[in-house]
Amino acid sequence: MRSSVGLLVQILVGFVLVASSTANFYQDFDVTWGDGRGKILNNGQLLTLSLDKFSGSGFQSKNEYIFGKIDMQLKLVPGNSAGTVTTYYLRSQGSTWDEIDFEFLGNLSGEPYIVHTNVFSQGKGNREQQFYLWFDPTNDFHTYSVLWNPQRIIFSVDGTPIREFKNLESIGIPFPKNQPMRIYSSLWNADDWATRGGLVKTDWSKAPFTASYRNFKADACVWSSGKSSCSSSSQSRPAWLSQELDTTSQQRLQWVQKNYMIYNYCTDTKRFPQGLPKECTAH
Ligand SMILES: *[C@@H]1O[C@H](CO)[C@@H](O)[C@H](O)[C@H]1NC(C)=O
Repeated sequence: MRSSVGLLVQILVGFVLVASSTANFYQDFDVTWGDGRGKILNNGQLLTLSLDKFSGSGFQSKNEYIFGKIDMQLKLVPGNSAGTVTTYYLRSQGSTWDEIDFEFLGNLSGEPYIVHTNVFSQGKGNREQQFYLWFDPTNDFHTYSVLWNPQRIIFSVDGTPIREFKNLESIGIPFPKNQPMRIYSSLWNADDWATRGGLVKTDWSKAPFTASYRNFKADACVWSSGKSSCSSSSQSRPAWLSQELDTTSQQRLQWVQKNYMIYNYCTDTKRFPQGLPKECTAH
């Protein structure tokens, strides 16, 4: 077992000056499945995943990260994407894994995608929040970000926070903090549940379905051989390691939660008849 104190010490000492390099998918990711359906293009500036009747595809980061501010631009499957799911998530190894999820559930042309989010700590999830977006995510690239530091996890879309998961270890809720995570993404068929709960099926006459990725950026601590080294523009503690939502960001978050959130496990009293999870009622 890894000692969390040891890990923290490593993180505190491990700042290195890393010149920010232009995103290159060859350098940062491996296409791991899909037999040619996942492609790195334009000298590493673009990555596409596709899905047809026979298979989807996926990729994963070469690095494992322990905390970071991670941005990726995605352009989701256009047109009739019903039944398709594009996942984009961070996950650690093992049976008590940590995970931070974005999933994009496709829809009929002109009908809204659902952005599904979840946080697992030590193998336990069941913390779903779902949103509509305030733009069409298939027209152009948009930035989906995860800020993960020891105090909080913030999901953002084009710089607007949509969800915050706070470290509430003080009231006994495990927080992802001790296990390095890799970044994964995949495009696959889930027409048994994805669109209107499985009512709308994938239209295979529209295949192949394609999602595109560009401008990956990680201000992060990379985990390697039991040590973490954090990229930073100066030789001090990177700002994102203690970043929190300022007043403006909190107002944006509330705007999204009020107008675009369509499911919140924290208000699903039917699902939790014995009482809502503790983090839902903590202040
Ligand atoms: C698809 O469109 C329907 C009708 O507008 C909507 O109820 C549903 O939430 C949308 N998204 C998904 C993924 O089902």
